[in-house]
Amino acid sequence: MSALVVAVDGPSGSGKSSVSREAARRLGLAYLDTGAMYRAATWWCLHTGVPLDDQAAVARCVRELPLDQGVDPDAPHVVVAGTDIADAIRETAISAAVSAVATNLAVRDELRRRQRAAIATQSVATSFSHGRGIVAEGRDITTVVAPDADVRILLTASQEARLARRARDVHGSDDEAAVAATHDQVLRRDADDSTVAQFHVAADGVVTLDSSDLDFEETVEAVLAIVAQVT
Ligand code: C5P
Repeated sequence: MSALVVAVDGPSGSGKSSVSREAARRLGLAYLDTGAMYRAATWWCLHTGVPLDDQAAVARCVRELPLDQGVDPDAPHVVVAGTDIADAIRETAISAAVSAVATNLAVRDELRRRQRAAIATQSVATSFSHGRGIVAEGRDITTVVAPDADVRILLTASQEARLARRARDVHGSDDEAAVAATHDQVLRRDADDSTVAQFHVAADGVVTLDSSDLDFEETVEAVLAIVAQVT
């Protein structure tokens, strides 16, 4: 069988990263977290002192981003210029700044080029997944990066469910105070991201999976069932 490419998009808090990673693991495929690439680009610009409102300087900086990103779902490392930044890119300062970098169109061109190359690499027999394929997730994978993917899924969830999940991830609780603390960050980031990528409504041929009432295991199984229909 030829390589399988599974594309998953969704808003923040939809669970797309953890669900995609687990689906990749169970399918024996590589896993590409494209959000981590935008986060790494943001970290690199801040680290090298590039002002994020200088579009040309940010674009130059990202073109030279020395990123080494793992695609093994069991060990997805993110290393920039020899520094492991897997934890650093999850910090609030990066989450707050990432949309400014991701809405830079020259940055998107550069990272999309790298994402397509990573997907192509997993279709050849010498790569991590031994040519079996990849699950790639983000905001524009089903529409722009891999519109020809074998499986394309938009993973959604109600605003309430997304805020509660993100509050549990960041604050370890989904009580009122924790949800209020994540509210602006989640909704503002999605609003900013929506100006350059369409991930709230499924494009033609993309399957919508609403995870509002599903737990993690049920959502992974639903993804695997969608994949099974085409394989
Ligand atoms: O998925 P995650 O929350 O880690 O994504 C971080 C940010 O990266 C998003 O808020 C968005 O600005 C950007 N992103 C993007 N396109 C993608 C993946 C992520 O613009 N394909």
